[in-house]
Amino acid sequence: MTIAGVVLAAGKGTRMRSNIPKQLHKVAGVALVGHVVRTLRDAGIDEINVVVSSDLAESEELHAALLPRVTVSIQSEQLGTSDALKSARSSVAGAESIVVAPADMILVTSSIVRQVIDTHAESDALTTVLGAVVEDATGLGRVELDTAGHPKAILEEHEADSELLQSHLTNTAWYCFNNKWIWDALDSVQAADTGEVYLPRVVEQASAHERSRIVISDDNETGLGINDRVQLARVESVVRRRINETHMANGVTFQDPGTTYVDIDVEIGSDTTIGAGTHIRSGSRIGANVSIGPNTQITSSKIGDEAVIDGARVANSIVGAGVFVGSNSLVRAGAELMVGSRVGNLAEIKNSVIGPGSRVSHFSYMGDATIGANVNVGAGTVTCNYDGKEKHPTVIEDEALIGSSTMLIAPITIGKGARTGAGSVVRSNVAAGDTVAGVPAKSIRSK
Ligand code: UD1
Ligand code: CA
Repeated sequence: MTIAGVVLAAGKGTRMRSNIPKQLHKVAGVALVGHVVRTLRDAGIDEINVVVSSDLAESEELHAALLPRVTVSIQSEQLGTSDALKSARSSVAGAESIVVAPADMILVTSSIVRQVIDTHAESDALTTVLGAVVEDATGLGRVELDTAGHPKAILEEHEADSELLQSHLTNTAWYCFNNKWIWDALDSVQAADTGEVYLPRVVEQASAHERSRIVISDDNETGLGINDRVQLARVESVVRRRINETHMANGVTFQDPGTTYVDIDVEIGSDTTIGAGTHIRSGSRIGANVSIGPNTQITSSKIGDEAVIDGARVANSIVGAGVFVGSNSLVRAGAELMVGSRVGNLAEIKNSVIGPGSRVSHFSYMGDATIGANVNVGAGTVTCNYDGKEKHPTVIEDEALIGSSTMLIAPITIGKGARTGAGSVVRSNVAAGDTVAGVPAKSIRSK
């Protein structure tokens, strides 16, 4: 059976009280619509179409949240979920069945989506709905079952009678449909008294053919949706717990999972330890036997095996194997700390390469610098890289020794094995092996 996926994400999301469209609100670093796309992919569905409003179609945030090969269709007017699905028709034409999902029910897992697909195929159904039993069904569509236990109808809260309203069996708005049958079925759905055309009404037609089925999730988190910010926070905490548990199952130690925030799209190697108060954001790759935290933030960075990041921030950078980064240091903007190097406390490394075995141990700023191997940068050294108009590079070659509080006025090169005296202000290049000191720094090598 070939299956395509459709995510309905053109709704207004007014209950969020936000200028940001609901589907772009983030949970664990990824927009809601991106979560649903990932779940469909993880369930083995390759061809996926996302239906959005015309103002969202060009948004960079939308495209950043999607995966490769996901297509986008536009619903020009928000006339209801049935109308939204019609917008995707041409993009899923080749599939035998389609899985349709809303953008705001992101706790549905790929394994339950597979169960829906399997039940649909085995029973040759026209519609298979994913139902969930929830404690508080307020605002949700209720599923009415026939005597055989198959769905007879799905009614929204304002349509259901008082008996059905007692039911806690709700519609998750995840469905599998027969792709030949669904389009005519949509055409015969009448608008509700709100003026919207409701997709779940097709269940009545499938039921009339005795080809309506349901999978009821036994996980009580499945039915938790996101219509407002309280629900957004509740779902976020469930997603974070699941992410942390997945990493723990893979051999990562969490000192305190409740205060550790790992986004989706993060890799962590085995026997890595993560201290309390740590944030690891999307796009980060952490090696094995690494120690991170407490109170550390890693964003879109690669951390090599055996590294130690102790109370620092690392963003968009590469940290090599065995590197140490100490407390309150900031490593950012494409910095690369090569194997065995060390950045101590209160240092900032921006767009710079720190060569193997080199040390920048205490409160220094290295910006736009290329530092060779086994260099020692003394406390309080600054690359003065900005002249008020432009940024300039600094090069420090292998084995140089930079005295404490040296000011390096860029552009400048400090040659191999050269030394600078404490407190010197170095305005011009220093030859290999030379020693300079003073303000401005002059050679003090005995001739
Ligand atoms: C919907 C279901 C309800 C179910 C609930 C589960 C309908 C009529 N009702 O209600 O039975 O219990 O989900 O969360 O479907 N959308 C569009 N275009 C539109 C309208 C909506 O793309 O014109 C999208 C929304 O962005 C959203 C999804 O469809 O992702 C569901 O719409 P929403 O308004 O959230 O429906 P609910 O009232 O929650
Ligand atoms: Ca909803």
